[in-house]
Amino acid sequence: MKIAFVGKGGSGKTTLSSLFVRHLAATGAPALAVDADINQHLGAALGLDEQEAAGLPAMGEHLPLIKDYLRGDNPRIASTETMIKTTPPGEGSRLLRVCEDNPVYDACARQVELDDGAVRLMVTGPFTDADLGVACYHSKTGAVELYLNHLVDGRDEYVVVDMTAGSDSFASGMFTRFDITFLVAEPTRKGVSVYRQYKEYAHDFGVTLKVVGNKVQGPDDLDFLRSEIGEDLLVTVGHSDWVRAMEKGRPPRFALLEDANRRALRLLRTAADVTYGLRDWERYTRQMVHFHLRNAQSWGNERTGADLAAQVDPGFVLGEGVVTPA
Ligand SMILES: Nc1ncnc2c1ncn2[C@@H]1O[C@H](COP(=O)(O)OP(=O)(O)OP(=O)(O)O)[C@@H](O)[C@H]1O
Ligand SMILES: [Mg+2]
Repeated sequence: MKIAFVGKGGSGKTTLSSLFVRHLAATGAPALAVDADINQHLGAALGLDEQEAAGLPAMGEHLPLIKDYLRGDNPRIASTETMIKTTPPGEGSRLLRVCEDNPVYDACARQVELDDGAVRLMVTGPFTDADLGVACYHSKTGAVELYLNHLVDGRDEYVVVDMTAGSDSFASGMFTRFDITFLVAEPTRKGVSVYRQYKEYAHDFGVTLKVVGNKVQGPDDLDFLRSEIGEDLLVTVGHSDWVRAMEKGRPPRFALLEDANRRALRLLRTAADVTYGLRDWERYTRQMVHFHLRNAQSWGNERTGADLAAQVDPGFVLGEGVVTPA
């Protein structure tokens, strides 16, 4: 299952992504964490020290390898140069699984040992000014989009993406790639306005969006979120001393996380699991094609000098039954 944590800067996306990943790992569920946020802190939140985090390979720097592998022998994709971040898979493309070894994971994923279990971690790499907004072709999150668009994931295996609620993910369609999107909102007008904006984009695409209130301090905060967000408010999380201790570089064992927060994580898991029943690979494929055509027209065709609409394989539907060539 594919799960995103989005929200305004500083709302707690990284914190909650990391806690959710720890929760999954502690229950023995296979989990892969992806840091696609502007501020790359997920490694640290999973307990890596500065040096270890800095040593993680950047997906953004392995785009040629990723494209070359995923392209496989798909005859519609003539070269890695004409493969853009939205190029959809078709017959001949190589697909990825959550749990397997493949050249993409070899290059980009690292195992992170937690005190309960372990996870794979991939990071986009630090963002530069050029990544924000205009440089679609080289976009760092492009690697994550390609990954998600070629991923065949099943029930009880999880890819958790920590990302910004930015215009980049709306333009490329990345916001439609998830079974469920958790929008982290503090009880503030800004937090709520990011939710409203996201909701508006999400509405037309059948995105399942749930709000996680964070840093909720009392009944007044809770009232505020309830009245502003209504039924999309899934759960709230208060200040966590466990999180604060981790921020000091002294993470207690995960088993010592506060009960209320542990309950909140279980709730997130249940909400995610329920969405498996809503899964529609046909719609997933259709949306990927929709955004590819849009990106092709707005910059891709011009940038590559090719007609990228021809990359779409009309008969192809991504899904668990699709067989990848060796
Ligand atoms: N429930 C919580 N209890 C205690 N501290 C928290 C909690 N949630 C977040 N924080 C703290 O708030 C700060 C911001 O959180 P975090 O880095 O997770 O936000 P973010 O949305 O990922 O921010 P950015 O946009 O910078 O990536 C961190 O110092 C984090 O430790
Ligand atoms: Mg963050």
